Amino acid sequence: MTLRIGPLRLDPPVVLAPMAGVTTRAFRRLCRQFGPGGLYVSEMLTARALVEGNERTARMLRFDVDERPRSAQLYGVAPGTVGEATRRLIGDFGVEHVDLNFGCPAPKVTAKGGGAALPVRRRLLADVIGAAVKAATPEGVPVTVKFRRGIHDELLTGVSTGLIAEAEGVAAIALHARTAEQRYAGDASWAAIAELKAEVTTIPVLGNGDIWEAGDAVRMMAETGCDGVVIGRGCLGRPWLFADLGAVFAGGSAAAPPDFGVVAAVMLRHAELLAEDEGEKVGLCSFRRHAAWYTQGYAIGADTRRALGTVSSVAELAGVLDGVDPSLALPAEALRMKRGHTDGPRPVRLPHGWLNLIDDPTPPAGAEILISGG
Ligand SMILES: Cc1cc2nc3c(=O)[nH]c(=O)nc-3n(C[C@H](O)[C@H](O)[C@H](O)COP(=O)(O)O)c2cc1C
Repeated sequence: MTLRIGPLRLDPPVVLAPMAGVTTRAFRRLCRQFGPGGLYVSEMLTARALVEGNERTARMLRFDVDERPRSAQLYGVAPGTVGEATRRLIGDFGVEHVDLNFGCPAPKVTAKGGGAALPVRRRLLADVIGAAVKAATPEGVPVTVKFRRGIHDELLTGVSTGLIAEAEGVAAIALHARTAEQRYAGDASWAAIAELKAEVTTIPVLGNGDIWEAGDAVRMMAETGCDGVVIGRGCLGRPWLFADLGAVFAGGSAAAPPDFGVVAAVMLRHAELLAEDEGEKVGLCSFRRHAAWYTQGYAIGADTRRALGTVSSVAELAGVLDGVDPSLALPAEALRMKRGHTDGPRPVRLPHGWLNLIDDPTPPAGAEILISGG
C-alpha cells in the first residue's frame, strides 16, 4: 500500500508526527531502523528563528547521511518569512519535504494569533501556505499542512483549512482530529477525518490521533477512507511500533510487545545517540522523559523508575538497566496506556476581535515567538 506525497513514495503509508523535543535525529534514526519506508518528520522549527540564523534551530536540522527524505516541520505566521525559511530549508539544509504546522494550542501562541488560531484568518492562511508552496515547487519539494479540527466545537476550521491548502497546491494534508480547546484530552474524532476526506478530493488526506497500536492505523484508514496515518504519542518509548505498522500494512500481524531486555537495549542506543548529538549531560537529561515512556507498564519498581529519572551518563543508565530482570513482560492492559501529553480541555485564548478579521491578510504581530509543540 503506497502513499504518494508529491514525488515521495511511502510504503507503508505512515508518517512520524513532528513532536517538539522528541523527533530529534536520534529518535528518527531508531524509528527509521524499525520502519524503513515511512516519513519521519523533524521537530518543529520556527520560521523567523531559521531566517535569523538562530544556532539552536540550525542544530535541530541535523540529518543522518542515510536519512531520506529529509523532512522538516516549519511554524510561521508571515508569508515572507515562511517563504524565505522554506527556501533555506531546501537550499541550505537539503530538506526534501516541508510540513507546515497550524495546530499548536499553546495559549501564549494562540493569544497572539499564531498556531491553531491562524486558520480562522483564511486569507492569511492561504498566503502563508502559498508562500511555502511557491518557494518549494521549483525545487520539486512537496509541502504538506498539519492542522486541528478547529478552535472548539462551535468554531470548526478543519474543512476550510483543508480546502485552502488544496487550492494553494500542497501535496497532502494531515488532520489532528481534535480541536485546540481539547488539546490532548478526549478521543480524536475519526469522523472528522472521514468528513475532511470527503471534501478534499485531489490530494492525500492523512489521519492523526489515537493510534496506539498498529491495528489502529489499519482501522483508521478503513473507517475514515484516509490515505495514510500520522503517528504521535503511540510511538513514544516504542519506536518498534513502526515495525508493527510495516507488518500489519503488509497483511501480517504486529509482534508481541518486547520483553524488557529488548527495551533496555533500545533505550541505551537512544541515549547514546542523544549523547552524541547533544553532549552526554544534555543528552541524558533529555533522555529522562523517554525513559519514563519506555518503561511505562513494565514492573521495574519505584526505585529503578526514580533512578532513571535522574540518570546523567550512559554508563549510569547501563548500570540502572542492568539491575532489571530482562525477561519482564509488558502486561496486556499496558499496551494502550496513554503517554506524552494528556492535558485539556482548556479554553483557547484568541486576540481581541480575532473573529472579525477573517479576510484580513496582515500577519499578527508577536506570534512568531520561539515556541515548541503542536
Ligand atoms: C511531546 C509532543 C510534542 C508535540 N509537538 C508537535 C509539534 O511540534 N508540531 C506538531 O504539529 N504537533 C506536535 N505535537 C502533536 C502531534 O504531532 C500529534 O498531532 C498529536 O500528538 C496527536 O496524535 P497522537 O494522538 O497520535 O498523539 C506534539 C505532541 C506531543 C505529545
